[in-house]
Amino acid sequence: MDSKQLAAQLQEYVVSFRRELHEHPELSNQEFWTTDRIAKELEGMGLTVRRFDPTGVCADIVGGKPGKMIALRADIDALPVQEDTGLPFASKNEGVMHACGHDTHAAMLMGATKALVSKKDELAGTVRVIFQPAEENVTGARMLVKQGVLDGVSMIFGQHIAGMMPVGAMSTAAGPSAAASDHFVIKVHGKSCHGAMPNTGADATLAAANVVCALQSIVSREIAPAEPAVVTVGQFMSGTAKNVVSGEAELGGTVRTFSRELRKTMPERLERIAKQIAAAYRCTAELDYDFSVDVLVNDEAATEVAKGAILKVIDDPKMFLTNLPRQMGAEDFAEYTPVVPGAFAILGGGGEYPQHSNHFTIDEKSLETGVAFLIQVACDALNS
Ligand code: NI
Repeated sequence: MDSKQLAAQLQEYVVSFRRELHEHPELSNQEFWTTDRIAKELEGMGLTVRRFDPTGVCADIVGGKPGKMIALRADIDALPVQEDTGLPFASKNEGVMHACGHDTHAAMLMGATKALVSKKDELAGTVRVIFQPAEENVTGARMLVKQGVLDGVSMIFGQHIAGMMPVGAMSTAAGPSAAASDHFVIKVHGKSCHGAMPNTGADATLAAANVVCALQSIVSREIAPAEPAVVTVGQFMSGTAKNVVSGEAELGGTVRTFSRELRKTMPERLERIAKQIAAAYRCTAELDYDFSVDVLVNDEAATEVAKGAILKVIDDPKMFLTNLPRQMGAEDFAEYTPVVPGAFAILGGGGEYPQHSNHFTIDEKSLETGVAFLIQVACDALNS
């Protein structure tokens, strides 16, 4: 199967489907139009679709020869961003925009599906194509796993377009490749009183402010310097009036880690510091910790398959980038990787603005490489 030639033939189809999706962005868990549109397209190719609750859809391309089942995944949701690109196919939904490129992911997977359906007699096994909702709020993958999307699947692959990476470039690497992203709320309880008589109360603002500072010692003093980790307090709410000592404060934040072992130890660290610092100021504190999305760990064998496929579809081996800086963003493809071996690739998008910007655009030439990659990795994984 010549994946590059198939992708070139499908380029016009993929661009047009991408533009249609781009015009109709929908937020996480509300991708009803998108799910219907994708399902209709898959059914038009003669596939039987399976819908998920409330959104998302998958279909199986059953090959002409026996073999295992592998899965390809694209995410389909958009962001609460007001588009300002001036594109003729800009968002028609006020305040919602495909600013992360998930429209391109879905369109590339649709192109690969069309190619694989046309060549299904040559396939040794089954390719499950998964159009996953709710990546942006990192709940979609877990929801689909619970609904059985990976039943029978032996390997899974996905890709993300990177707005500012050059067209034709791709990357993947074995091991941890996107951070775990977890959230916390710390409530600090004190005793409110008149602002002019602070000694008669217990100042929750002062205690919480010191908790914020002390939390910074987790990364700087408790974790090995070469181990990436982030503790960010993004929210601080306290007080009702200028002349009242606050009796209650609330902190909200995010924790990023690159190791599953370190991840597990983080709630104890936050709780110990919050409680004991609060106590020093005659307050109490409680921690509510939410394990949100796992570390994305690319499996060795799956990554070898993905890397092999990339080297077959890129024009110049130098465009296989091996020096991408580690970043602490999360990707909910991670939720598949503890269940089945998987590999996630990054595709150059050739744009000028970063992901989630209201100016985010990509060079549509990049889609051809992404489609060729999906076709190739599916065939190679079935034959591996
Ligand atoms: Ni994204």
